[in-house]
Amino acid sequence: GCMGGGSGGQTIVAGTAPGFPPFEMKNEDGELVGFDIDLFEAVVDETDYTLEEWSEFEFSSLIPALQNDRIDAIAAAMTINEERQETISFSDPYYNADQSILVANNSDFRPESLDDLSGQRVGAQEGTTGAGVVNSELIEEGKLDESNFNTYGNYVFAVEDLENGNIDAVVLDQPVAQTFESQRDVQVAFVYETGERYGFGIRQDDSDLQSALNDGLATVQDNGTYEEIRNEWFSD
Ligand code: ARG
Repeated sequence: GCMGGGSGGQTIVAGTAPGFPPFEMKNEDGELVGFDIDLFEAVVDETDYTLEEWSEFEFSSLIPALQNDRIDAIAAAMTINEERQETISFSDPYYNADQSILVANNSDFRPESLDDLSGQRVGAQEGTTGAGVVNSELIEEGKLDESNFNTYGNYVFAVEDLENGNIDAVVLDQPVAQTFESQRDVQVAFVYETGERYGFGIRQDDSDLQSALNDGLATVQDNGTYEEIRNEWFSD
């Protein structure tokens, strides 16, 4: 990527973490596709910046990669929160989400609240807000033993473990849970409202890129492009 400030016209490298449908995933041909991919590319098209390439990481490696200048922006359904804002900055929000609790169709475990997860085997992707809910609402509350919490580099592996009966529930973003529900042998047991909002991550000193992305986002929201991309990846 291109270092430093300046007045735009630079190339940037974007980082993402596929395995999070429909935001970012690999299609049958192994290509990176999804809502975030199309949206970020449309937003950058509205700016003086040029997207040089996409670079793939595990979700928990994205912020370090940004800080080490390996990437210049994160487009990975990343929730804007205070903890992350201590190290990076975000664009304006572009999508809202809550957490969902996913269970296997072939089990009879049907939790209705987080308390029902107590004593069960729970999974989430490492470094996500879903893992944060498990830590703060269950483990720290003494309702779940740490040894019953499996973290995964990718939610796809968590869903596979759920289908195989290795864990009893997965905590993940509601739109992604809904997508897995339509593609895999799993279902949403209940939604846990967190009121999260996704933003594109940028370095804290990169205010030029931040304002360019915000302007670009406003443009695609106003001219119907956002809506078009949304309709392409979400059925509701
Ligand atoms: N929104 C959640 C978070 O920010 C999960 C994001 C996971 N994204 C991904 N591409 N795997 O922690």
